[in-house]
Amino acid sequence: MKIVVFDNLEEISKEAFKLVFEQIKKKKNTSLGLATGSSPIGLYKLMIEAYRKNKLDFSEVSTYNLDEYIGVPKENKNSYWYFMNENLFHHINIKEENCHIPNANSSNILEECLNYDKMIEEIGGVDIQILGIGRNGHIGFNEPGSSFKSKTWIVDLKRETIEDNARFFKNKSLVPTKAITMGISTIMSAKKIILLAYGEKKQEAIRKMTYGEITEKVPASVLQMHNNVTILVDKEAAKLIE
Ligand code: GLP
Repeated sequence: MKIVVFDNLEEISKEAFKLVFEQIKKKKNTSLGLATGSSPIGLYKLMIEAYRKNKLDFSEVSTYNLDEYIGVPKENKNSYWYFMNENLFHHINIKEENCHIPNANSSNILEECLNYDKMIEEIGGVDIQILGIGRNGHIGFNEPGSSFKSKTWIVDLKRETIEDNARFFKNKSLVPTKAITMGISTIMSAKKIILLAYGEKKQEAIRKMTYGEITEKVPASVLQMHNNVTILVDKEAAKLIE
């Protein structure tokens, strides 16, 4: 596990971009696992900028998003489908059919989960998986207690996650309580993992993920067992490990 500490999110985004840029330059048909949340937005902005400056071509790139809320229609501005289109897909030359997000509106969600995992298995895991981390140590939407063996599945969100997500919704009662998420073993099948985190609120999660016990109580601690993980954090988030 490589941990790099930066002054701010802007510097984290630049470093993450550098790694993604090198990967796509090396392999045109790179597969990227993508995350939502505030942490990767700066990275996505730099990817858009590189495309506009003709420095990156996404025509052969494919993407696989980590998760999606259940009960939020695709077109709703709080869906992760909407988030990805707004923050990335609509601004680069990626093919629509190459952008994969779990379909939480499927009439057969269980089958959707199986197919989503199968798709990722067939490509042998994504080349780079971008991750954020929840305050309680969740990755994707794999909450504390999730099995390290889990594959794409349906999860109940914990109270703290619902609280953290409430800032995006008009009213707390509208915040989803369920989601589809890549499982922990799906995430671990990535060839390389880059986790981005910033701010004081993530301090405890970062400490437990990096130097804590490897336990299902802290889903991100599983990353200690992956052989190619880079953690990019700011000074605030790194305070308990420096
Ligand atoms: C949500 C997403 C996670 C993300 C987390 C952190 O829970 N499902 O994938 O890592 O938010 O978000 P932020 O980057 O805004 O702190």
